[in-house]
Parts: sequence; structure tokens; C-alpha cells
Amino acid sequence: MAEIAFHNVTKSFGEIVAVDNVSFTVETNEFFCFFGPPSSGKSTILRLMLGLETPDAGDILIDGKPVTMIGPAARNVAMVFQNLALFPHMTARDNIRFPLVERKVPEAQIAARLATVVEKLHIGHILHKPPAQLSGGERQRVAIARALVRDPVAYLMDDPLSALDARLREETRVELKRLQRDLGHTLIYVTHDQEEAMSVADRMAILDHGRVSQIGAPQDIYERPVNRYVASLVGAPTMNILHRDRRTDGSSQAAGGAILLPVATLPDDASEIGIRPEDLRVAAPDAPTGASARVFEVEPLGGFTVVTIEAAGTLLKALMRGQPRVRVNDAVGITVDPRAVHAFASDGRALAR
Ligand SMILES: Nc1ncnc2c1ncn2[C@@H]1O[C@H](COP(=O)(O)OP(=O)(O)OP(=O)(O)O)[C@@H](O)[C@H]1O
Ligand SMILES: [Mg+2]
Repeated sequence: MAEIAFHNVTKSFGEIVAVDNVSFTVETNEFFCFFGPPSSGKSTILRLMLGLETPDAGDILIDGKPVTMIGPAARNVAMVFQNLALFPHMTARDNIRFPLVERKVPEAQIAARLATVVEKLHIGHILHKPPAQLSGGERQRVAIARALVRDPVAYLMDDPLSALDARLREETRVELKRLQRDLGHTLIYVTHDQEEAMSVADRMAILDHGRVSQIGAPQDIYERPVNRYVASLVGAPTMNILHRDRRTDGSSQAAGGAILLPVATLPDDASEIGIRPEDLRVAAPDAPTGASARVFEVEPLGGFTVVTIEAAGTLLKALMRGQPRVRVNDAVGITVDPRAVHAFASDGRALAR
């Protein structure tokens, strides 16, 4: 069990600053996610934690002790790699046992750890198979089992579910979350999938080109993104971000007047507004705006429907419950609760409302 901290850590590869002056503390027993688009530095952060890379600047601490110059073996941090890296010539059982055999752990102890992990991950029936005879999902579980079997101070997982189909990914992430809670271990988890990060993390860090944009509980980040980048990365469908136009009476409008906001809704320096799809209401066309908006596309998702609306050349997404009675090309009005509107300055900073 361990707390892992980065203090102003930077790591470059030639011209590329993969990790740029990053600081955070992952607390003991926390399920902590790093989330960001490709090349944002997620894997490099894990490799730095693991000791596979040495920072150019800054300190890495485990339980308050600097480990920056300590190699991977002495850190006892376990990793599930993005490409899984199972040994093809070994059965699943031998793959899982390998980290313990390598460390010359007594056989009785290996058997006990194996039994625990196998039970937790429900993989007893596939232990005799080599990786080539396992499905993508089964390989993923075996790789996770191999990390869990060591009883390390922390587990690192690099996009461990990326190879799974959507359904198995949903199932496995629920199991992972339960597993982490049961085992009571620090788990540091990388994903490029915002929904996955939101659903598993106690706290998450959002990365932008090697920098940390925001750290917090998923719901807090969702409700109070610090900037436009975070706002548009977290939440699906993506937040509608629109140019703010000022009206002569002091009120504001967006999308050519299809959205109207009363005086004093927005701070003076707001140049853009953000509206989550679930906060947009599609109303009858005689809504007070008078501006023309029409239904551009309708995507039924069962319990919800995503309605894309076109207004003054801008596309807006509304997430509606059930199956609203709207059709493509219908004229509609848009309303929004002013309290649900996010405001951004011209440099992308979120403004207090
Ligand atoms: N060993 C290396 N040599 C050179 N450049 C590297 C090396 N490792 C990473 N980089 C670069 O550093 C940046 C961050 O890479 P990293 O692998 O950490 O991204 P990532 O967030 O894990 O991306 P992905 O979601 O695609 O896995 C990228 O621009 C990458 O090309
Ligand atoms: Mg990566």
C-alpha cells in the first residue's frame, strides 16, 4: 500500500516534452486515473513511476521517500502493459506465476496467491491454455492476474481494456473496480476513454500535451471543468461550445440567436459558452427566440436520443430522455437553464459564474 507523488516531473524525448512539469499525489488505496488523448504522456507517466524512465527534472516519491534514482525491481510497483506482453510459449497459469517464480517465492505461497487471483478474476477454466488460444478478453484478464499476483505496493495499468469489445470492457471495468475495492490497493490506471475514466476513478488527472490540466473526482471535473479543453474532453456527447454574442440590451445570445441568455447570466469577459447536451431543451418552434433552428439528425439510443440541431450554421447536440417526437428538418426552439451554462474566457479558462 503506497502513496505515489510526482513533484514537478519533466521528461523529454529529443524535441518532444512528453511529461511537462507534472505534480500530483496518488493517495494510498486510491483508484486514480490518467486520462488524455493519444500522445498526451499517459504511458510515459506510468513508465516514470515504474522506474523504466528517469525524469530530466523533478522528484518521484513512494510513501514520501524519493525513488527517482531507484530501479524498477526495488520499487515493487506492478504494471499491466498496453500490449499485455504475455509469454506466448507459456500457459496462462505459468504466465501468472512467472513474477513470483522469478522472485523465488516459495511454491506454497505461489499456489496460495494464484488461487486468490484466479478466484477473483474467474479464470480457473483457462489456466491450461497458452495466450494464442485465449480470446482478447481472456488474455486481458490473465495479464491483470499476473500483475495482481505479486502483491505490490501499487498496480499500474496502461489502458488494460483497450483491446476488448464495448460490452466486455464495461463488464471488466466493473470487476476491476470491485477488485480494487476488495484488494484495497493503490491502482493507477491509464485510459483514453473518458467514460471509462469517469466510471472507475476515485480521482482522475486530465492530461494535455504532457501537462496536467485538472485533478479531481470525476463528478467535480464534469461539473466544474477548469477550462474549455477539459470541458470538451469529459462528457459524451461532447459539451456544446458556442461563441457568445452580446446584444444591445446587455443580454447574450449564441448560435445566431437560437440561444438567448438574460442579462447577468455571463461574466463580462466570457467569449464562449458551454452547454452540456443534457442541459439543452428542444422546445416548440414558437419559443421566444424567433431564430430559426431545425433538427439536423436524430440518433435513438434506446433510453436516450441524441438530437443534433442546426442553427445559423452551428450544430448543437441535445441529449433527450426516451424517444422525443422530433424528425429531421422539424423547426424547433432551444431553451437552456442559465444556471447550467459554462463560461469561458478567450484563452479557454473557465470563468466563475
Ligand atoms: N521512448 C520514446 N522515444 C521518443 N519519443 C517518445 C518515447 N516515448 C514516448 N514518446 C513520445 O512522448 C509523447 C507521449 O507519449 P506517451 O506514450 O506517453 O503517450 P500516451 O498518452 O500514452 O499515448 P497513447 O494514448 O497513444 O498510448 C508522444 O509524443 C510520444 O511520441
Ligand atoms: Mg500509451
